[in-house]
Amino acid sequence: MSMRVYTRSVRILTSEILDRKGERVELSGWIDSRRDHGKIIFFDLRDREGLVQLVAAPDAGEAYKTAETLRPEWVVSIKGEVKDRPKGTENPNLATGQLEVAVSEIKVLAKSEALPFPIDGDGYEIDEETRMKYRYVDIRRRRLTKNIRNRYKVTKYMRDFLGKRGFTEVETPILSKSTPEGARDYLVPSRLYAGKFYALPQSPQQYKQLLMVAGLEKYFQIVRCFRDEDTRGDRQPEFTQLDIEMSFVNEEDIMGLIEELYLGLVKELYPDKKPKLDINGRIPRISYDEAMKKYNSDKPDARENKNDPDELAFLFVIDFPMFEWKETEKRWDAVHHPFTQPKVDSVEDFKNKFKSDPASIKARQYDFVLNGYEIGGGSIRTHDSELLAAVFEAMGNKPEDVQAKFGHLLQAFKYGVPPHGGMAPGVDRFVMIIENEPNIREVIAFPKTGDGRDPMMQAPSEVDKSQLKELHLAVEKEK
Ligand code: AMO
Repeated sequence: MSMRVYTRSVRILTSEILDRKGERVELSGWIDSRRDHGKIIFFDLRDREGLVQLVAAPDAGEAYKTAETLRPEWVVSIKGEVKDRPKGTENPNLATGQLEVAVSEIKVLAKSEALPFPIDGDGYEIDEETRMKYRYVDIRRRRLTKNIRNRYKVTKYMRDFLGKRGFTEVETPILSKSTPEGARDYLVPSRLYAGKFYALPQSPQQYKQLLMVAGLEKYFQIVRCFRDEDTRGDRQPEFTQLDIEMSFVNEEDIMGLIEELYLGLVKELYPDKKPKLDINGRIPRISYDEAMKKYNSDKPDARENKNDPDELAFLFVIDFPMFEWKETEKRWDAVHHPFTQPKVDSVEDFKNKFKSDPASIKARQYDFVLNGYEIGGGSIRTHDSELLAAVFEAMGNKPEDVQAKFGHLLQAFKYGVPPHGGMAPGVDRFVMIIENEPNIREVIAFPKTGDGRDPMMQAPSEVDKSQLKELHLAVEKEK
């Protein structure tokens, strides 16, 4: 039997050259820029950690000849010696600015055409359609790379924080059934069952409640949610929630956990930011009625100085009304969702109050607000099947519809359901605010345009007739 010996790449990162003065190193990355000074060629090499200046002098032989051909964004691998820059030519704005690498070998790994737009600035002025079409180029700009890497730090902090506190991350289905979160569903036609559809989850709301019946007690998931609604600066058709559910808890247990998580996260990852807290060092709680009276908004912007990019005015808005009148549908709808527990003494009490004054019923709902954005919503749930059915009916569902739509949940609640509640902070909105970005598209690697398209993949797109046939579908041509 013959043995093959593999050797690992000896490539180092630009950030590592600081401890390698006088050594011969190998670096790989993209040509960021090139400057010719007389016969000497200077170019910056960029990798995921930053930049370093490379120098090719005429005595470098073959490497010099290759250096003459290099263009921005070519991918290269080089070998060379790490040296101090000559006195007076150091660049204090660059982490590696004291040093440069005198190249002795250059391998061109890939050439690049001229980029569709520059990537050295922050790019806000560039047409968004073009940025999205070439998103992989757009992400090379430092601002977007930073946003994406910081977003990972945020979600990692969340995972670690909850993991340490006994939570289990559980994946729930994407092919699911319509759940009422107030938006339109994305539907997926079933091939095996003609005329039937899955719905993509607007949130894992029912699954996480079922996991409480299953005895998990502490669930979380960093999860994609899908809502077919008009896109706005703070809204995408698919977005990410930090979804949480807990058993045997009250409102304060959930808000206290979220408070500890977010304040800890800010302190560790964004130490320059200044959360505005109450005299006890806590996130202020304000009732819905008070918020409406004082700010005329249920997601008030409580910053003292709205021009201060470092001020973080977190708030919990509590005591929401349970129902609001939906004029278009001529019915009462849940302000949060129907699983939220109304503040009533009994099913009888609920029915009486709903008959006499539905708007007066309060809910065990809490919203999490930051600088005027709703960055999370949650509630203590109704775990009494009878009350839950009464809420569904109050919202205009006939008893048989309640069984068809929610029978699975009511059935599950017959098998020992613990009292439970939870919350789902939106990840995109929080990262947008903390990174001082004007919209969530700037903190999502591959977002949809304002009108719901992906210009890079050209989605949505038409599909083959054969695919439609398999799915028992026909497209009605618009005249
Ligand atoms: P809710 O519908 O309030 O609650 O959503 C929770 C949070 O998710 C974020 N969010 C969005 N972010 C970007 N684009 C969107 N289209 C979008 N829609 C919502 C917001 C919002 O506060 N299942 C319940 C949570 C629970 O009760 O535990 C839910 O989804 O930051």
